[in-house]
Amino acid sequence: MLIQGRQYRTIWLAPDKKHVRVIDQRFLPFKFVVEKIRTVEQMVRAIKEMHVRGAPLIGAAAAYGIYLACAQAEKKRRSDEFIEQSFASLAASRPTAVNLMWALDRQRAQLQKADNPMDKKKRALQVAERIAEDDVERCRAIGHYGLTIIKRISAQNKGRPVQILTHCNAGALGCIDFGTATAPIYQARKQGIALHVWVDETRPRNQGRLTAWELREQGIAHTLVCDNAGGLLMRQGMVDMVIVGADRVAVNGDTANKIGTYLKALAAYDNKIPFYVALPIPTIDRNLANGRDIPLEKRDPEEVLYINGIKRGKMERVQLFGTGSTALNHAFDVTPARLITAFITERGVVKSNKLDALKIE
Ligand code: MRU
Repeated sequence: MLIQGRQYRTIWLAPDKKHVRVIDQRFLPFKFVVEKIRTVEQMVRAIKEMHVRGAPLIGAAAAYGIYLACAQAEKKRRSDEFIEQSFASLAASRPTAVNLMWALDRQRAQLQKADNPMDKKKRALQVAERIAEDDVERCRAIGHYGLTIIKRISAQNKGRPVQILTHCNAGALGCIDFGTATAPIYQARKQGIALHVWVDETRPRNQGRLTAWELREQGIAHTLVCDNAGGLLMRQGMVDMVIVGADRVAVNGDTANKIGTYLKALAAYDNKIPFYVALPIPTIDRNLANGRDIPLEKRDPEEVLYINGIKRGKMERVQLFGTGSTALNHAFDVTPARLITAFITERGVVKSNKLDALKIE
């Protein structure tokens, strides 16, 4: 992704291979901070506290976490035990994005083939690098297939800008590059298709600030709206399509994504507006027939009661509600498959009944 004219990814290995670097998303859009992550413990914290976030990136971060754990284990007497503990703490770091478990399963399968600590470290790095590289290609392909939908709507609009609504950040920042929901938008922009994006603020963590920042960096017209505005915009004919990302998709197409996605899908359905979910195939959970059993993360209520912002160049935390009020902080909801027009994957645009047939390459 282009940041101030320079190409970046969200996560990469330092040249000395001793640490991993990530864009620390807590400070965006105000400060561009690159964090050095040297240990698996630091990686667990970065995932939990959302320095890194977004399902595909969480998966890649966990895979790099195992690499760091293997490097640390080389100096430990009980190295296997340490690696096992690292698997457990990474697995528990965030519950909803299935990409995390998928990445850890891939690491486990490789590490089982290794017979000494050095070999483990080498294999763990290969897996992490592969997951990251593959994700870039998956997102590129999602962009390619999603572009066909935007092109069709643009033709129907006879040149009037395509109005796209998105929720949360399913952008390059939630992946390694390009994003899922944003990849078709970036490709459309490259082809000179006129478009405009409605960006939901996405309370309480305000991931809309990330999407708005990304879109601004890529020079794409966009407007931030509060989470409750989508229904009105749709009724007023201001939305041609909705594209969101996903954290876990059951085999029948029920989709867990950022809290508020379900309400947008309901409003889109009522207004006959196409509602697309963009996802790489590892976001499909083959063990879940439907969305009922998707584990939905509940986060600290303080994220609802307080907000972070910037004042005179300094990040500040501000209390939003009266002391003594309690809050509930569900981070995700599940949108039933019947409300989803289609899924934009790296293998094409498919209806929910075709998801199970998509195999991971
Ligand atoms: O809590 P977050 O910010 O990790 O939630 C992220 C989302 O809900 C995204 O839409 C999803 O992970 C897809 S990212 C390409």
